[in-house]
Amino acid sequence: MGRLDERVAIVTGGSRGIGAAVARLFAAEGAAVVVADVLDDEGERLTAELGAPARYAHLDVSSEDGWQTVVRETESSLGPVSVLVNNAGIVEWGSVEEQSPEAFRRVIDVNLQGPWLGMRTTAPSLRRAGGGVIVNISSIAGMTGYAGIASYVASKWGVRGLTKAAALDLAPDIRVCSVHPGVVRTAMTADFDDSFTAAQPLPRFGEPEEVARMVLFVVADATFSTGVEFVLDGGVTVGPPAAPGAAQ
Ligand SMILES: NC(=O)c1ccc[n+]([C@@H]2O[C@H](COP(=O)([O-])OP(=O)(O)OC[C@H]3O[C@@H](n4cnc5c(N)ncnc54)[C@H](O)[C@@H]3O)[C@@H](O)[C@H]2O)c1
Repeated sequence: MGRLDERVAIVTGGSRGIGAAVARLFAAEGAAVVVADVLDDEGERLTAELGAPARYAHLDVSSEDGWQTVVRETESSLGPVSVLVNNAGIVEWGSVEEQSPEAFRRVIDVNLQGPWLGMRTTAPSLRRAGGGVIVNISSIAGMTGYAGIASYVASKWGVRGLTKAAALDLAPDIRVCSVHPGVVRTAMTADFDDSFTAAQPLPRFGEPEEVARMVLFVVADATFSTGVEFVLDGGVTVGPPAAPGAAQ
């Protein structure tokens, strides 16, 4: 018996990376999974690999019409949605001075407005399912600042705050939590080398499957948690590395 039998889950940005790992784990645990993404070929391939009752849906998460179509089609083919994982996200490099207003807005539209649209469109379906869980993928960039990615940092802090507001608005039927990965090996971090993680207490990249297991924990086990952050970051936000000469 799977831990997500009878559940219907939408995973945005599910065609690759962290989202694909979540889709695979959810399907292995018995959920019917809708992978919603803009990368159609990868998404179709993945859902074929997951087997029935998985489906691929083309969705730009910044489109309200797109969300309405995906939720309607999910309900009619698989039943009401009981789990939503708002995972789709993009990075656009640029400091506060360098980044164009258009690029800033693009990041906010996908990373922050996307989860908001997803929650507001899916909430009635989650209620029809008898209650449900929303997991918003933020980042440790939603817990501290990073140079050169101001819009990304703003969007991920936004997702963290939005999660708390939504947890209050949607209680008690729907739990809403945020998950905050550190540096995870995906296409998003393809340019990072091992030196980037060398000073972490756990000096390595995280793997997408580790994030997927945290998301499953939030959905299936964390039944008394809502509006809170679940962090998996190799300890990088715990504190700075030891000062030179400090006793080891
Ligand atoms: N990789 C990391 O180190 C890391 C760390 C912390 C948080 N995250 C977050 O995890 C999430 C997944 O990132 P990833 O590392 O797997 O990256 P990724 O680039 O491999 O995957 C992102 C997915 O989102 C999809 N996507 C992008 N824009 C979209 C849109 N408008 N509508 C629908 N889908 C869209 C992409 O097509 C892709 O499939 C993101 O929200 C990211 O910010 C990643």
